Amino acid sequence: MVAKDISHRVSKPILSGISVTSGDSPIPSTRTKEGKLLEKLDDKVMVVNQLRGELKKNSVSPHCSVEQELEKAEKDNLDETEWAAETAQYKDIDTKSFRQYELACDRVKQFYEEQHEKQTVAYNIQARINFKTKTRARMTIWEGLEKLNKLLDDSDPDTELSQIDHALQTAEAIRRDNKPRWFQLVGLIHDLGKLLYFFDSKGQWDVVGDTFPVGCKFSKKIIFPESFKTNPDFLNPLYNTKYGIYSKHCGLDKVMLSWGHDEYMYHIVKGSSTLPPEALAMIRYHSFYPWHQEYAYSYLMNDHDKEMLKAVKAFNTYDLYSKTDQQYDVQELKQYYLELIDEYFPEKIIEF
Ligand SMILES: [Fe+2]
Ligand SMILES: [Fe+2]
Repeated sequence: MVAKDISHRVSKPILSGISVTSGDSPIPSTRTKEGKLLEKLDDKVMVVNQLRGELKKNSVSPHCSVEQELEKAEKDNLDETEWAAETAQYKDIDTKSFRQYELACDRVKQFYEEQHEKQTVAYNIQARINFKTKTRARMTIWEGLEKLNKLLDDSDPDTELSQIDHALQTAEAIRRDNKPRWFQLVGLIHDLGKLLYFFDSKGQWDVVGDTFPVGCKFSKKIIFPESFKTNPDFLNPLYNTKYGIYSKHCGLDKVMLSWGHDEYMYHIVKGSSTLPPEALAMIRYHSFYPWHQEYAYSYLMNDHDKEMLKAVKAFNTYDLYSKTDQQYDVQELKQYYLELIDEYFPEKIIEF
């Protein structure tokens, strides 16, 4: 697949030393090599999440604590809405095909050790300030997808699936189930925030991986929870209590989630689209596995979040399992998705 180089359209300097400011300015080669690692790592993180999902489905816990009972109740109280009804597409999926857990585990563990050490309140605030005070690029959503695709494709000849493949597979699976058009669009753009990697991220740890709140006690339900011991916030009495800087049922919109492609893209989409709250939640929380799979942090949720949880769970299956699907012809589908983008992004040029 050949994606056109749209870097000449970027009208403002890209900060943090990433020189994508004029027509022929290349992305530094070291960065693209890291992009290759990013993509491989992200695939492995997904494999681990698939496996965790399968294990969870198959496990039966006879002794539940009060907290687990409450969390179970949260889960059981989730009413199905029409568009959120479970897909039948993946009911016969061969879960063994995802069992590369042993292979993925060491690398994923090392990744999380770094992520859990470095995702602090201080870093989070700084990342949000950076986000709000800079424009990293101006382009259309489709150009963003092509840029991400080109950057990661060029850097990773071994990856069978490109970013656009994953975007289209997710979107097409949602479309095949006759879900609303906004839901299909979420499938297309949910990972577009990985562009962050080429803008002002510090590494992989602030782009991909599961997300979690900072500013309160790290839940044991976060993957590799023991690695938070090296995080400076772990011993900070302001941040290491159950509620930390938050309050009971304050609502997740008040909570700072660890910084990455989800949070970044959520803010972009919130400011530039007419997508409904469910779509924003799917984008913001799709890597918040401790919440949408383990029901951690239910004590920070408000009633709105309970509704949003249904949406995020409905989306998760497509994100995880559509990677097994066929590859699509990008040119064939492009017009359909360009129209879909136009429907929800009134301003064609988006400030990234
Ligand atoms: Fe993602
Ligand atoms: Fe994804």
